[in-house]
Amino acid sequence: MRMISSPADIVRVMSLFLLAVAITALAIAMEGFDANSLLIGIMVVLAGGLATIQTRRAINRLHRHSKRLSKAARNAERHYVSVLRRIVKLVEARDRYCNGHSNRVGELAGKIARRMGMDSQTCSMMKLAGQLHDIGMLVVPTNVIAERSRIGVDEFRTVKSHSQIGYEVLRPLKSLEPILPAIRFHHERMNGTGYPTGLTGEDIPLTGRILAVADTFDAMSNDRPHRPGMSSRDVISELNRCSPAGYDPNCVAALAGVYGFADIIEPQAQAETEVATEAVAMA
Ligand SMILES: [Fe+2]
Repeated sequence: MRMISSPADIVRVMSLFLLAVAITALAIAMEGFDANSLLIGIMVVLAGGLATIQTRRAINRLHRHSKRLSKAARNAERHYVSVLRRIVKLVEARDRYCNGHSNRVGELAGKIARRMGMDSQTCSMMKLAGQLHDIGMLVVPTNVIAERSRIGVDEFRTVKSHSQIGYEVLRPLKSLEPILPAIRFHHERMNGTGYPTGLTGEDIPLTGRILAVADTFDAMSNDRPHRPGMSSRDVISELNRCSPAGYDPNCVAALAGVYGFADIIEPQAQAETEVATEAVAMA
């Protein structure tokens, strides 16, 4: 074990030596010369100084280890997230109508967030939230997904559990903390008719309101077994008609801006209050 290994350590030892000499000189001036006391004084100060240097070196080593551990933890979380993305792909692969849905929702949620003036880190998190938002669908049996609109009350209850289950699956990952509200509340509706908790208005986290708009837009824009996909303009008109009852008008306006259809957005007072049937359909 090296006691001294840097110029800074040498400077510290020299300083301590000079301090020892100064203290001893002061003691001699006050009490008279004593060779033993001089030696003991110098030894005590030097031992203390060397102990201090060793302690500092140990603390630096701990800091380095701590940084390495933090980096390893971040890498592990990145790996977990890439595994989760693959799981989402497998979940989507069970149903050709949902193929690519999560990636598209992620892209759109990021664009809406940017349009609403959010910082780039939040926009990236919104993109990730979209990519992972339906991971809880892995608990829904394939036959239920295939049946879609013809499912019964019990099956629909299982489908509705996916947002809460997605939240529970992702919750242990520290790096995903910012997206958890979006995952959990992306099926809430402004008038309280959504799930899992029936939150209303601004009690629904903004990230959840953004994700709800992006999710519904993609679901309505793409073909389903019982109907063809609608045009972007028609979907935005429908979402506008269903706000503020179903969707946050600011999020819908941002969506319209993303697609260059800002002319669709009408004054709030003229907005309908009916929530679209599609709002509660499987996204
Ligand atoms: Fe969903």
